[in-house]
This record gives sequence, C-alpha cells and structure tokens, in this order.
Amino acid sequence: MRSSTIYNLLIFIILTYPIASTAFACPFTAKWNVSVISVVPKDLVVHIKSGDDDLGNHTIPFVGNYSWSFCEMLGDHILFYGYFWWGSKFQNLYLFDEAISDKFISNVDTEHCYWFVKPVGFYVSNLPSGGGEFIKGWD
Ligand SMILES: *[C@@H]1O[C@H](CO)[C@@H](O)[C@H](O)[C@H]1NC(C)=O
Ligand SMILES: *[C@@H]1O[C@H](CO)[C@@H](O)[C@H](O)[C@H]1NC(C)=O
Ligand SMILES: *[C@@H]1O[C@H](CO)[C@@H](O)[C@H](O)[C@H]1NC(C)=O
Repeated sequence: MRSSTIYNLLIFIILTYPIASTAFACPFTAKWNVSVISVVPKDLVVHIKSGDDDLGNHTIPFVGNYSWSFCEMLGDHILFYGYFWWGSKFQNLYLFDEAISDKFISNVDTEHCYWFVKPVGFYVSNLPSGGGEFIKGWD
C-alpha cells in the first residue's frame, strides 16, 4: 500500500513537473527573483553570470532595472556574480550566494533580492523600496 502511494506520488510529480516548469515554478526549492536597480546617473552596464548561465551584458538607465529568476539548487551553492561598469568605474561582486539566500529567505512563493547600485556603491535589500545593507563601494 505504502509503496503504491509513493509510486502514485512520483507519477504525479513526473506528470505535473513539465507543466510547472513552463510556468516557471520550482517544485522542490525556493524560486528567487533578483533585481539590479540603477540609482546612478548615466548608463550602468552589468554583465551577470553563474557557473551555468551567462545572462550577458545589460545597459540599465538611471532608475531602471534588470531582473532574472532561477530555482535555488538543493545542496548546491548557486552563485551569480556581476561585473559593473559605470563611466570610468568598475566593480565585481557576488549578486547571489548562500549568504544572501540565508539572509533573505522568507518561505514565500517567490523570494526577492534587490540590489541598488548607487554612486557610493552596492546595497542589497529584500524590499524594492530601497535602503538595505551596504556591501561594497566602487573600485
Ligand atoms: C560588456 O560591456 C563591457 C563594458 O562596456 C565591455 O567591456 C565588455 O566587452 C562587454 N562584454 C560583452 C560580452 O559584450
Ligand atoms: C522580479 O520581480 C519584480 C517585482 O519586484 C518584477 O517586476 C519582475 O518582472 C520579476 N522578474 C522576473 C524575471 O520574474
Ligand atoms: C523595474 O522596471 C519595471 C519596468 O519599468 C517596473 O515596473 C518595476 O517596478 C521596476 N522594479 C523595481 C524594483 O524598481
């Protein structure tokens, strides 16, 4: 009896997984949405990468943003890093790692992390309204 219940559950997961994944749900792990918001005058160029993904170069205008979503991997250390160019300034930093995950996870449908790029540097928050914690200045 018990093993047939497990069998049925597995069939259910297999059958529903492709449907769930087209709607971009993460059946077993947290879904994250990370936004980079420019609060610097003039264009900000950001290149975002992970081990598996290269999201390419994006130019973000003043008060514009760029966001992406992904499923956090179980037991894995998914890491997104960003290279930033603003005029003659440059910086690179981790945009998502275990520390960020632990800091902001709140067990909601979609977890959010917001980066605010300011003339003094990089701030991270779980709220879209601003503020947050200062992480790094420009080089
Ligand atoms: C991304 O933009 C930077 C800064 O403008 C540039 O140096 C770099 O070559 C670009 N990379 C790609 C892959 O286009
Ligand atoms: C991330 O969340 C913001 C709302 O905070 C939304 O505007 C944006 O479309 C989301 N991005 C993705 C890739 O789902
Ligand atoms: C990102 O830009 C979109 C489109 O302009 C806007 O609707 C959204 O509120 C912005 N998100 C944040 C967090 O500023």
